[in-house]
Amino acid sequence: MLLTEKIQEVREQVKQWKKEGFTVGFVPTMGYLHEGHGSLMQEAKKQCDKVVVSIFVNPMQFGVNEDLDSYPRDLEADKKLCSELGVDLIFHPDVQEMYAEGFCSFVDMNGLTKELCGKSRPIHFRGVCTVVNKLFNIVMPDKAFFGQKDAQQLAVIQRMVKDLNMDLEIIGCPIIREEDGLAKSSRNTYLNPKERKAALILSQAIFKGEELVKAGERDADKVVSFMKEILRSEPMAEIDYVEAVSMDTIEKIELLQGTVLVAMAVKIGKTRLIDNFIITV
Ligand code: PAJ
Repeated sequence: MLLTEKIQEVREQVKQWKKEGFTVGFVPTMGYLHEGHGSLMQEAKKQCDKVVVSIFVNPMQFGVNEDLDSYPRDLEADKKLCSELGVDLIFHPDVQEMYAEGFCSFVDMNGLTKELCGKSRPIHFRGVCTVVNKLFNIVMPDKAFFGQKDAQQLAVIQRMVKDLNMDLEIIGCPIIREEDGLAKSSRNTYLNPKERKAALILSQAIFKGEELVKAGERDADKVVSFMKEILRSEPMAEIDYVEAVSMDTIEKIELLQGTVLVAMAVKIGKTRLIDNFIITV
């Protein structure tokens, strides 16, 4: 497994692989890797000859009062996991390598970013689109793998690739959870034992909401209210949003039809957690 901080080295390696006829799968991450990230690497390994993982905590996608400085990092553990899963190359640039002096070009999006996380994190998706675009241009993968855990991000990236005619395929992968249901996240490490227990209310609301839709409920308001009620039963949970949107447009819907995303962001103590389910009605 190769590890490099340099854009040029990634380019040269990938060029070489392509010359040899290999396909390249790419998993962009911010590191502190867990089994959720691991599942994307495994899928990439299944679908492609070579797998590139990027580890870069992207300052551009964090708001001023967010957790950029405290975001967890552990390159040694990340290297171990990547190597165990047969990753071929880790790209681990520093901020200077990605955003050299004078940097002033951005990828922005008018739709899809107004609801859900876009509301409480207004600059977030501009940062995500810009860095993912840069990473795609550096790695030039045939396929890139994203988790449904960040469902709005997945929809945004799919839209960006379509709108800007990027020559790669985006593969969405299911949410990986802890045994007790909590969606795996690098941010779970912020939770103290009491908060960790309280955080279970998210997946409980997700599972029960999904059951309600499967049982035939089609009124988005009713599903959302039902889920909010469950969340409110946990005194440590502070709801940021629970919303039902169309998976394609990330616009609010009243009637559940087509492919629907029901998503939530909830603060447990100082930690903001997200979870969702996607269902085709
Ligand atoms: P990060 O939060 O590190 O996540 C990297 C990828 O792992 C994302 O596609 C995310 O959806 C996926 N992932 C995280 N937890 C998961 C889980 N429990 N199950 C399945 N997949 C999971 O998302 C980012 O980084 C950044 O925004 C990035 C795309 C790298 C741009 O900076």
